[in-house]
Parts: sequence; C-alpha cells; structure tokens
Amino acid sequence: MCEAEKLGRAVSPLLAWYRENKRDLPWRRDCTPYSTLVSELMLQQTRVEAVKERYVAFMRRFPTAETLAAASEEEVLKAWEGLGYYSRARNLHKAAKIIAAEGFPQTWVGVRALPGVGDYTAGAISSIALGLPAPAVDGNVLRILTRFFADPRNIDDQTAKKHFSALLSGVYPPQAGEFTQALMELGAIVCVPNGAPMCGACPWSGLCKAHAEGREEDFPVHGEKRSRKLEELDVYVLKCGDAYALEKRGKGLLSGLYGFPLVERGGPSPAEGELLAEKRAKHVFTHIEWHMTGRLVEVPARTAGYLWATAAEIAERYALPSAFKAFRIWLK
Ligand code: ADE
Repeated sequence: MCEAEKLGRAVSPLLAWYRENKRDLPWRRDCTPYSTLVSELMLQQTRVEAVKERYVAFMRRFPTAETLAAASEEEVLKAWEGLGYYSRARNLHKAAKIIAAEGFPQTWVGVRALPGVGDYTAGAISSIALGLPAPAVDGNVLRILTRFFADPRNIDDQTAKKHFSALLSGVYPPQAGEFTQALMELGAIVCVPNGAPMCGACPWSGLCKAHAEGREEDFPVHGEKRSRKLEELDVYVLKCGDAYALEKRGKGLLSGLYGFPLVERGGPSPAEGELLAEKRAKHVFTHIEWHMTGRLVEVPARTAGYLWATAAEIAERYALPSAFKAFRIWLK
C-alpha cells in the first residue's frame, strides 16, 4: 500500500476520535476568520495553556479587525504583554488594518500574504476559518506522521515539511478545519512531545508503523541541536521615590518594548545610588539566553534619558516583557 493510501485510511478514525476527545478551547467556540487569525498568531511558539485566558481577554478588548485596526501600537503591545515574540502583535495589528480596509482574504495565497503568517499559520487559518484543504505542518504534526510511517527523515530539514504537506494535501476531507485541528490535537494530547505516547488512547494504534514495531520514541529524528548564545547582563532597577526608570529598547531583542536599563556584566552602572537588593535570574529566548544579575538601586534624582514611571503606571500602560519578570517584585 502506498503512503497516500495508508494515510487516506487514517482520516476517518482520526476525525471520529477528534469529535469525541477534543479539548474545549476558547478559539474553538464561535470562530470567525479574524478570531482564528488572532488565536493562530498567539499560538505560534506559545503553549495552549498560556494562550487560553489571554486569547479571551484580547478578543474582549479587540473583538473585530476594525477595533484592533483603530487601536494604537502601545495599546496592542500592552494587550500582548508577557506573551513574548512581540513582532507577532505588531504583525497582527498590521494585518487587522489590511482586513479592515480590504476584507478577509479568501485564498491560501491571500492569507499567506498577511503580515506574520507563514506556511503553517496560513494552512491553519485557511483550513479552520475558510474550509480550504490546506495542511498546517508543525513539530506536532511531523511527530505523529513520522511515527505513523516509522519515517527516519530528519524533521529539522525543510524538505520534511514539504513531503508531509504534499502527502496531507492529497487526503484532506471536506471537514478541513476539523482535520487540521485533529492532527494538532493528536500530537498535543496522545502522541505527546515529552515522554511516552499514550498509544492505548490513539485512534491510529492499529495503523501506526512505529507502534507495531515498538519504536514510537525512535521518532521523530532530529538534526544537530542548535546552541543558544549566552549573554551575561547586569540589570538595574533604578528607584527614585515611587518612580522607576524604564528605557524603550532599540534595535534587536524586544525592540520597541520597555525594559529596565541593562549593561553587559561588569559594565558601568547607569546611575550611582544605594544598593537595596540584588538577585539573579535567567530568561531563555529562542536563540539567546540572558543570565542576569538584577540590582535594585535607590538613586537621589531622576537620571535623565529614562522614562520614569510608578508601579501602577507600569502595570497599566507599559509592556514590560517576561524577561524582566523576576525583578517586578521590587516595584511597589
Ligand atoms: N496550536 C496551533 N494552533 C492550534 C489550535 N488551533 N488548536 C490547538 N493548538 C494549536
């Protein structure tokens, strides 16, 4: 039996399983093309559990593309605070302006052309919101399919995505959105990324080659691990009365967001004052790791060049990324 035929036979059992077992997630209720765009951008690189409440709050604040298009960038970044990868928020804002002016695109090519939408997200939105037979292949889908076929190809190689996208395109059922989400769901709750898969609960257990061979955890095969660059930093929480110094970050990581002043480890302090507390913290980005020593320093005057804000103002107005979260306890 060829691969396409084998996968074709796996479609119905997967759809039946999905209808019975899918999680009740907020973006699966009353979904519109705009709400799907919001949820799919939020879910890029971010766990479902971390997105759930934030999605609901975001949709309450910006229920339509028009309301989002009319907001300022600062308001949008504030609504995205803590979710990370802030270029997604900026792209979503740009996309909302396009949609408010031109309507929601009706083809895969049109969806793919929206800012912030890559192949995976274009597939997810096109199938879930528009019912098009467009696959969305991410790490979860690569895991379930390499196991299903006991396929030893390196999934970090872009050609793996192309191969499985083409295979899936040939078997899409009319319930395109359900099929896309069923593939994601199987990868998320049965054929899990960490630890042993729950093959006893899997609709594909009688069809899966890796399971037949008892080799589930031999797949997927990865290429060489990429290492992260370490950056050793001193972070200064400068306090003057009830105000704290923030700086708007320039080019590079977290650009355009507010943060505490920071220098390379051992570099000159941005202001002289009394050291009140010190703690270490770490933040892991995709390609960089920050190892930080944070210092709370009481300074006698508001050093020029910074934005000085109270804890309440920071909470309400300025998006302070999670990288600085460990030092927020000092804001009183
Ligand atoms: N990850 C990306 N998109 C998703 C979705 N629609 N449901 C669950 N997890 C997802």
